[in-house]
Amino acid sequence: MRSAQWYGGDDRNSYIHRAWMRRGLPADAFDGRPHIAIANTASDLTPCNSHLDEVSRSVAAGIQQAGGIALNLPVVSIGETQVRPTAMLWRNMAAMAIEEMLRANPIDGVVLLGGCDKTIPALLMAASSVDIPAVVVPGGPMLTGTFRGVPLGCGTDVWKLSEEVRAGTLSAAEFQRSQGSMIRSRGHCNTMGTASTMGLLAEVLGMTLPGIAGTPAPDSRLLEGAHATGVLAVELVGKDRRPSAVMTRASFLNAIVALAAMGGSTNAVVHLLAIAGRLGVELTQDDFDRTGSGVPLLVDLQPAGRFLMDDLYRAGGLHAVLAEVRDLLDPAAVTVTGQSLVDYLNGVPVYDREVIRARDEPLQSDAGIAVLYGNLAPDGAVIKPAAASPELLRHRGPAVVFDSVEDLQARLDDPALEVTADSVLVLRGCGPKGYPGMPEVSNMPLPAKLLAQGVRDMVRICDGRMSGTAYGTVVLHVTPEAAAGGPLAKVRTGDMIILDVASRRLEVDLPPGELEAREPSPAAVRAYAAPKRGWERLYVDTVGQANTGADLSFLVGSSGSQVSRESH
Ligand code: FES
Repeated sequence: MRSAQWYGGDDRNSYIHRAWMRRGLPADAFDGRPHIAIANTASDLTPCNSHLDEVSRSVAAGIQQAGGIALNLPVVSIGETQVRPTAMLWRNMAAMAIEEMLRANPIDGVVLLGGCDKTIPALLMAASSVDIPAVVVPGGPMLTGTFRGVPLGCGTDVWKLSEEVRAGTLSAAEFQRSQGSMIRSRGHCNTMGTASTMGLLAEVLGMTLPGIAGTPAPDSRLLEGAHATGVLAVELVGKDRRPSAVMTRASFLNAIVALAAMGGSTNAVVHLLAIAGRLGVELTQDDFDRTGSGVPLLVDLQPAGRFLMDDLYRAGGLHAVLAEVRDLLDPAAVTVTGQSLVDYLNGVPVYDREVIRARDEPLQSDAGIAVLYGNLAPDGAVIKPAAASPELLRHRGPAVVFDSVEDLQARLDDPALEVTADSVLVLRGCGPKGYPGMPEVSNMPLPAKLLAQGVRDMVRICDGRMSGTAYGTVVLHVTPEAAAGGPLAKVRTGDMIILDVASRRLEVDLPPGELEAREPSPAAVRAYAAPKRGWERLYVDTVGQANTGADLSFLVGSSGSQVSRESH
């Protein structure tokens, strides 16, 4: 038992370790029982996770029932909508801090409580780099809200309603009134956004109690599952089943299949690559295209579809979706229970075929994430065809270029802006280094004058990310980003852009040699001011590009759980 390195023996150090933990723990707590931390991202400033203290109590009860010692460990929490400049700037910081605290403390295993977008990725990255027995409890989505008598999705409908206000079809007062209807309960966003996607993928990766992911946050079955997870955590420690034994390449490829079948968030590409990087699992951006292509879209959830997470749970949940694509899943991938993921898919019923389509009646036959290449994206760019307008997936149009988010905000609605529905909006300076932190701005709003004409989608290209709750014909994660010397910095307004998703092509149509000969836009370079100190400085100096997961270079990989030195 790892904790015996602290508590075992009769010397002065073990005395200190035991004595200082006696505030609440009995003497027999150190008789070889597993000490299991509950890494808890509950925070009033992460409202999507604020219920996790209650979940933690159920996990603790399960750990204790199984003979373990449960230890609450509050960890860095990131509220997607609250933190500035962008939550992604802090994912790696959270992962680094959690990793170090897992390694530094006398624990044998950990239960990871997350929910809001970056929290489950950060927890999994941390646990992967320490590689002690670990299991996730996804906090679950909020219940469906209603407004004007119809369901209101959290996130996706904010964009739709705000576009309605800009187009003059919804009053500002009505828009404000919808707030109270949208967030109906505890839990994370209830569309197939990043939080839902990563909660479900944590299970596909094998890292949860089978069947728990997608349970709505207020549902009593979440607490039942949390209790069972506590029991399972003790068993995990006994079997020394570690993240590296569960999250193999087979698990990641299964996650890519599930991502496509669910129509999950593009952010999962970055997060899965980062987690794989911590584990040393070979995974590339191209795996998403290779493995995801041809996988049918079966789940009709917002942002691309109609329903919400509560509906998915009611219709049969994740296992019902996975059962439809069972033949595409690698049976070699195991879960934290030691059983194969596919073992849990026998005879799983589907209760609502509107929400979860049959394999032979998909919403789309090819739902995977497409990875585009060309002179605009030598190291790749990503598009989610399921969220795009089919008629725009092959498009040629003149670029309208913005050097920063601020430049976009200042000029987008200018009546003098030369833009038509055929234009291609290009936004740069939004990559990991450029912003910094790779914000979710790629789904640029459309120019007001085009909205007024009834235009609802345009081709947009950016080196940033897109909210998992957003939709549209958006090319994102352009790599290398403009601030890292990518050709996006050399594009000019008026250049013809070619997008051809079928042939995976993203080009600027220029005479041979011209792009290479151009200097980067001075305005784009000016917009990128390297921070002088603190986390931002460390981040900008060491962050990798989107195509490898945007982790910090020195955090990729694992250091294991050993800490050999100590002094008192
Ligand atoms: Fe937390 Fe959407 S803001 S999940």
